[in-house]
Amino acid sequence: MIIEPRMRGFICLTAHPKGCEQNVKNQIEYVKSKGEINAPKRVLVIGASTGFGLASRITSAFGSGASTIGVFFEKEPAEGKTASPGWYNTAAFEQEAKKAGLYAKSINGDAFSNEVKQQTIDMIKADLGQVDLIIYSLASPVRVHPTTGVTHRSVLKPIGNTFTNKTVDFHTGNVSQVSIDPANQEDIDNTVVVMGGEDWSMWMDAMKAAGVLADGAMTVAYSYIGPEVTEAVYRKGTIGRAKDHLEATAFEITDKLKDINGKAYVSVNKALVTQASSAIPVIPLYISLLYKIMKEEGIHEGCIEQMQRLFEQRLYNGSAIPTDNKGRIRIDDWEMREDVQGRIAKLWNESTTESLAEIGDLAGYKQDFLNLFGFGFEGVDYLADADEMVQVPSIA
Ligand code: NAI
Ligand code: NA
Repeated sequence: MIIEPRMRGFICLTAHPKGCEQNVKNQIEYVKSKGEINAPKRVLVIGASTGFGLASRITSAFGSGASTIGVFFEKEPAEGKTASPGWYNTAAFEQEAKKAGLYAKSINGDAFSNEVKQQTIDMIKADLGQVDLIIYSLASPVRVHPTTGVTHRSVLKPIGNTFTNKTVDFHTGNVSQVSIDPANQEDIDNTVVVMGGEDWSMWMDAMKAAGVLADGAMTVAYSYIGPEVTEAVYRKGTIGRAKDHLEATAFEITDKLKDINGKAYVSVNKALVTQASSAIPVIPLYISLLYKIMKEEGIHEGCIEQMQRLFEQRLYNGSAIPTDNKGRIRIDDWEMREDVQGRIAKLWNESTTESLAEIGDLAGYKQDFLNLFGFGFEGVDYLADADEMVQVPSIA
């Protein structure tokens, strides 16, 4: 079978196993090229199959030789259907880890559930004893609450007023106005339940109670701030409320881990093309302008460059972890540079369907989007048969 991208809205229905493998191999090569990082050797990544979580897992394994357990929610291949990209990414990751003599096992299931938490704890106990670093990198539109059984759905809406601004359909390059009605209180509450810090806290509680957190264990979750043009729909919108909650939860977790000298941090990361971010209105237009400027300045980074720099220069830099006045780690420092943001504000006003191809990096956006699903990689023969069933070794 020849696998081609099949786009439907903000999602691609197919994924290419060889392309996903190439993506993982490229990330591994990048991390190795940057040299060794003096980071922990037993790492759990929750949300480990794509985006920042996958890059964190690769950085841990190939930057510091860590044993890793990865938790994620992905579709395995079925008759006539490809797997989701995170499945192929994990198959490739485990294969490369094995070749390098590194322990790597994975759990495919709902991280919000009590069952998956217990399964993970059992695996840690049996194989690693304890973990020293827990990366929390979930992005999900829905959460079934483990105590109430209620299904909560997050929404991406402004709070207070209708938000109207430009957006781009990155498939066609068409720039148009989008209006989003404000959220009601229920929307806000649901978004906080899904993307706030409650589940992170529940993970840490369960692991602490089970004795699988090492003395001095650290946990890191990911947040975003971003520019003024996206503020109404992002940081001051429903998702921003969830991020406020996540950031506040870091302090609560740190308190609860005092007796084992544990610490919780939030790292504010750069805006990047991932499955999660391409669904947010306005963000794709911002990202295409941002990419253009950051590439011109030679400061563009993808997920792997961000996570490698986070580990090497923030988390495990050999001295204190630098934070902002709210206790957050900032690895969005280059995105938020004054000169970069100043140029964005100007280009934002100028961007139209006609001008965007020139003033923005729409081509770079599209390329990154294709790459998420394993398409568009150099060195992959997309005309070759690709229907061999790929297995994730540890969960085959
Ligand atoms: P992503 O969509 O690439 O990754 C999400 C991960 O969560 C995948 O491994 C997926 O399998 C897993 N997942 C989703 N629901 C699950 C469930 N119920 N059980 C188990 N696993 C589940 O997303 P991305 O962009 O890497 O986001 C990770 C974090 O980084 C999020 O908190 C996001 O807000 C944050 N972030 C993202 C930015 C961006 O521009 N993409 C910028 C700054 C922060
Ligand atoms: Na992730």
